[in-house]
Amino acid sequence: MFSDERGLDLTAANADAVAHYDAMVSSYLGLCLDTGDHLKALFGADSKMPMAHCVNGYFFKLFSVPALEAKAKDRLASARALADNATARERAHIGALDAWCQGDLIAATNRWEEILLEYPLDVMALRLAHFTHFYLGNSDQMRDSIARVLPYWDETIPGHWFVQGYHAFGLEETGDYAAAEKIGRQAVENNPEDIWATHAVAHVYEMQGRSRDGVAWLNAHSGNWDACNNFAYHAWWHLAMYHLDLAEFDVVLDLYDTRFRNRETDDYLDMSNAISMLWRLREQGADVGDRWAELAEKSQVRVDDHLLAFIDAHFVMALAVDRRFDAAEGLLASMPDKDDPATEAAVYGAVGRPLCEAIVAYERADYRRCVDLLAPIRYDIRQIGGSHAQRDLFQRLLVSAVLKVEDYRFARALLSERIALNPNSTWNWKRSADALEGLGAVDEAARSRQTATTLLSI
Ligand SMILES: [Fe+2]
Repeated sequence: MFSDERGLDLTAANADAVAHYDAMVSSYLGLCLDTGDHLKALFGADSKMPMAHCVNGYFFKLFSVPALEAKAKDRLASARALADNATARERAHIGALDAWCQGDLIAATNRWEEILLEYPLDVMALRLAHFTHFYLGNSDQMRDSIARVLPYWDETIPGHWFVQGYHAFGLEETGDYAAAEKIGRQAVENNPEDIWATHAVAHVYEMQGRSRDGVAWLNAHSGNWDACNNFAYHAWWHLAMYHLDLAEFDVVLDLYDTRFRNRETDDYLDMSNAISMLWRLREQGADVGDRWAELAEKSQVRVDDHLLAFIDAHFVMALAVDRRFDAAEGLLASMPDKDDPATEAAVYGAVGRPLCEAIVAYERADYRRCVDLLAPIRYDIRQIGGSHAQRDLFQRLLVSAVLKVEDYRFARALLSERIALNPNSTWNWKRSADALEGLGAVDEAARSRQTATTLLSI
């Protein structure tokens, strides 16, 4: 029996295969481009390693593309065929892949958490649970999943600083910004190429409206992302988010064209970055030219995917903004219904459908319907997963629609909530001024606008 670099038993044919497995896991934790190369080398060294087949299935699932669902199931079948030779831990991983392939995200996550109780150094289980907690909208679980294993980790264990980065992100998403910043910065100091930990700190600056700190932070570290996969686009999107709040729309569009939409991929995260940025720009009156068209084109062929409500909400936005209402209605019509056993079907029922309908209603200029759909679920939108920063798109949509129906009292209430959480956001103060002007509170409106101007000049 061999063991991986954290000392966990690993069923393998030879030491070469184990070395390739370790390199593949490391690459995956670092969100590096060469993860697939290491997997290929691993199969070359040992075509019958159960964890190689299982992890390959995981990787197919991570893409969230229907065409790769069948491949994930093929890998599940081949892993199962090898399970007789596998350890209990490896068989539990195959069980998690099975649950995931059936669309049961909660059962898959539970399997990883069960593995972690017995094997807290199983960093694959840890990272995958981090991913699914994120897309289940379970910030507390995402934080605690990492906290539970921390006593077993120290600097001598390979991957320690990645784990610190996950901890930082969980803390950030649950609002402990001071701890998140401290731990995230420490993780990056010790592991400068860790784009996830860098990104955890970037989220702190986003949530606190520290746009200039964020610009400095990401510009100081972007030189470390050459080996990273498309997650680097998301990090560049964060940089653009700071410039957006600084009302530097030309810089945002330049980053869009050269850093995060320079390759027009159909990856869901890449498209979500682009779609949410274009919507935010347009809402602030910036001219985004013809950039919607390619996003709508790519969304149009994905209307029946329905892998995550988070993704659908972005695709339907591109379709509706580009006036492709037939395709947008098609996306709504083919959503999973309540009899579908998949975890995500319940999310569609509770929030995915009203959210997507609200997005379409807004683009049809039916702002009242948009508000009526969105206001009752505004505290539940977290169920679609993603980060607070990403989901803020939909909170802005609600604020915008409420202003358009001239319900200024409600708009002011929403903006007061937002300002209490983030008094440094220039957008919050500008929209607050709009609401106050609507209420006839001229002096207060002027003070709000002045606060935004002051923040921009600091
Ligand atoms: Fe992010």
